[in-house]
Amino acid sequence: MLKFPQGFWWGAATSGPQAEGTFNKPHKNVFDYWYEIEPEVFHNKVGPDITSSFYHSYREDIEMIKSIGLNSFRTSIQWSRLIKDFETGEVDEDAVRFYNGVIDQCIKNNITPVMALHHFDLPVELYDKYGGWESKHVVDLFAIFASKAFELFADRVKHWVTFNEPIVVVEGQYLYQFHYPKIVDGRKAVQVAFNINLASAKAVQVFKDGGYSEDGKIGIVVNLTPSYPRSDSNEDKKAGDIADLFFNRLFLDPAVKGKFPAEIVDLLLKDDVLWSCTQEELLIIEKNTVDFLGVNYYQPRRVMAREEGFNGTEWMPHKYFDNYEMPGRRMNVHRGWEIYPKALYDISINLKENYNNIPWYVSENGMGVEGEEKFINSEGYIEDDYRIEFIQEHLEWLHKGISEGSNCFGYHLWTPIDCWSWMNAYKNRYGYISLDLQTQKKTVKKSGYWIKEVVEKNGF
Ligand code: BG6
Repeated sequence: MLKFPQGFWWGAATSGPQAEGTFNKPHKNVFDYWYEIEPEVFHNKVGPDITSSFYHSYREDIEMIKSIGLNSFRTSIQWSRLIKDFETGEVDEDAVRFYNGVIDQCIKNNITPVMALHHFDLPVELYDKYGGWESKHVVDLFAIFASKAFELFADRVKHWVTFNEPIVVVEGQYLYQFHYPKIVDGRKAVQVAFNINLASAKAVQVFKDGGYSEDGKIGIVVNLTPSYPRSDSNEDKKAGDIADLFFNRLFLDPAVKGKFPAEIVDLLLKDDVLWSCTQEELLIIEKNTVDFLGVNYYQPRRVMAREEGFNGTEWMPHKYFDNYEMPGRRMNVHRGWEIYPKALYDISINLKENYNNIPWYVSENGMGVEGEEKFINSEGYIEDDYRIEFIQEHLEWLHKGISEGSNCFGYHLWTPIDCWSWMNAYKNRYGYISLDLQTQKKTVKKSGYWIKEVVEKNGF
């Protein structure tokens, strides 16, 4: 039997924009707006307006989360819901009522609430007015939002996350066109990466200065994609290191160590695309590192040296390496992502050896599957044995990392209840609990019953 450390977090994660629905929001975020102007981009034209209706059903949803034994739950506070006036920080009273309700319901059910402040959901108005994360003014507005959230909720929320997967904002909005406004502009991408690092550090600063760190902790959630080179050749290994710099270390190093890796600064300088920043801003980043790390892990990155010259017209990190379709990779065909559980062990050891053995948890891991209805059994619930196997394999490798001294304190599945996703909407389902979109009926899947036993035994 594999036993996990005492007090281990067994939980699941979602986000405000993917679960709440847009009911009663004073502002739109970039996805609310994108859906309004281009609904056809979203699978079956299903948007973020209704989702699993967490805004209305949070009480029952949290009770269901409790019923499958989970003891922790991450969601996010939407900037576009909480804040009415971005410049003054005036809050929306209905949003305060709603988030208070969510937090209190978690605590009542002995579930540790973890709240993120940004989950891809920049208010669209801040993009229109200031260019969103391109602007340092927006960085300051984020700090105002953060301070309001702490002031209102940090008496009960003791674990905060500044950003979820910040590199995805850079990739989606400025490089690969899968988040609104779908721009391709490498130079802006680099500036946005800097600004989000700064915004995260400023939120940490506000947290510490406000005295909230006396009994609370603040972290960041990064999606780590360990980069495995095609071969041991120097060229492939170098390609792997550069991919790691851009897609992992660009946020990991400043958040944990307070400094950007010198190698990335050199590369950007050489290409004449380095961000503009002041000494004072670098100092804020240096001084305001995180207390803990959330790691979202779905798939690794397989990388090889470029075989053909880079012929893009824009600067791109991919100038330096290429993706490698490794023969025989095990794939989740529904999502098109490789399944490679051992990476969780590699991440554990990397964090232990190279990041001061920082306390961390798996903040997302999971398997999106299309057409799960076909696995409904005669008792009316989904028999998702493939998901159980997926989680189990990942936990085995995680356990090995922990037993070798990595400081991991929890595992969250993406997601408790099937939720909406950015462009795929409800195509791929991830939850321990299924959602019937038509009726909003929620039913525990086999994996939900399974995890309950795992939590009871604190292992399997
Ligand atoms: C993570 C995000 O990237 O992966 C979630 O934090 C997202 O918001 C999840 O939903 C699964 O990805 P997708 O695109 O299949 O929903």
